[in-house]
Amino acid sequence: MGKYNFDVEYDRTSTNSVKYDLRHMIFGRDDVIPMWVADMDFATPDFILEAIRRRLQHPILGYTFRGDGFTTALVEWIQKRHGYQLNPASVCFSPGIVPALVFSLLAYTEPGDRVIVQTPVYHPFFQVVESNGRTVVNNPLKFENNYYTIDFDDLERKAVGCKVLFFSNPHNPVGRCWQREELERLADICFRNKLIVVSDEIHSDLMLFGNIHVPFASVSEYIKQSTISCYAPSKTFNLAGLSTSAVVIDNEMLRKKFNDVIERLHVGMGNIAGMVAFEAAYAEGKEWLDEMLIYVESNVEYMHDFLKKNLPAVKIIMPEATYMAWLDFSKTGLTNEALNKLLIGEAGVGLNDGAMFGEGGGCFQRINLACPRNTLVKALESIKNALSKHNL
Ligand SMILES: Cc1ncc(COP(=O)(O)O)c(C=O)c1O
Repeated sequence: MGKYNFDVEYDRTSTNSVKYDLRHMIFGRDDVIPMWVADMDFATPDFILEAIRRRLQHPILGYTFRGDGFTTALVEWIQKRHGYQLNPASVCFSPGIVPALVFSLLAYTEPGDRVIVQTPVYHPFFQVVESNGRTVVNNPLKFENNYYTIDFDDLERKAVGCKVLFFSNPHNPVGRCWQREELERLADICFRNKLIVVSDEIHSDLMLFGNIHVPFASVSEYIKQSTISCYAPSKTFNLAGLSTSAVVIDNEMLRKKFNDVIERLHVGMGNIAGMVAFEAAYAEGKEWLDEMLIYVESNVEYMHDFLKKNLPAVKIIMPEATYMAWLDFSKTGLTNEALNKLLIGEAGVGLNDGAMFGEGGGCFQRINLACPRNTLVKALESIKNALSKHNL
């Protein structure tokens, strides 16, 4: 029995929660079991809430700067959690990781420049490229034997003339924890094509089943100098509403360009609650995180067994990292449209339609497993009942 109870079910409605209070907008009904947006239905840990409460003992919330504690908290966390030593001077602030992707586009590319993404991938990766007038070059992941890998041959051909690669390490939504050999092969292509890599490591604390995260920047000195590494406690500790993350840029010229954009846009201030939470999370979060991951692993295993027994036409791609799981419904024979209709209209479950993650996502769904077991059981039973009415 651990110290924390992840079985508690919280009513998040009427908290302006995207996952709960925007259901009608997304699914056309407000009563689906929400398993979509990537935040957790677990309480943000008490030591973080307590740190914010402590700060609120002081009644003034005026202009505030981040002290050395911000950098130290991240550097010590990454050293302890991933065995990687960051240079404190390389740590920059960003109000979010998606904003950091945009700042990188503004800092390192010109309109029309080509940016590589690897679909199916977290949709803002390609959306921000398009909305900022750059050109998406897609290097779709390979899917064989229920397992995703990077298509290096395709990348080799497409990398020529590209400027930047947006890399999800580990990968959302397919849950891959990239192995060192894969990162080295990727690094070689990036080196030969002089690509700047924005390595989004927001999910890197969420390693499952003994998998080990390898920071992309750690692969070689050259790669360290050409990589923009993105970190945040927001996924790890359920702080997404606080808009506070960090970007690590070892190359001085690239760091200056990034910080110039932050300055130009005047978005470097951040917010007090985010700063306090960031420091508390990284200073005190180990025990809570270790327990939370065990709970998520048990949800993954529960779902795996449930599907095998009750819904053999639905295959889970076992996540090596992240609390999201990627489900393959293609064996049901349903079109993507029919699948969504059935899941929303008949099962009453709100998942992420895989098609939103780009090429290769159709007939897949992403399910969020950072929820109490009861929620998961209800969702799976509902999906089973709905599919069985169609003899699936
Ligand atoms: C890979 C990845 N990057 C970034 C984000 C969001 O980051 P932020 O809220 O800091 O913009 C998410 C959220 O799901 C994500 O999965």
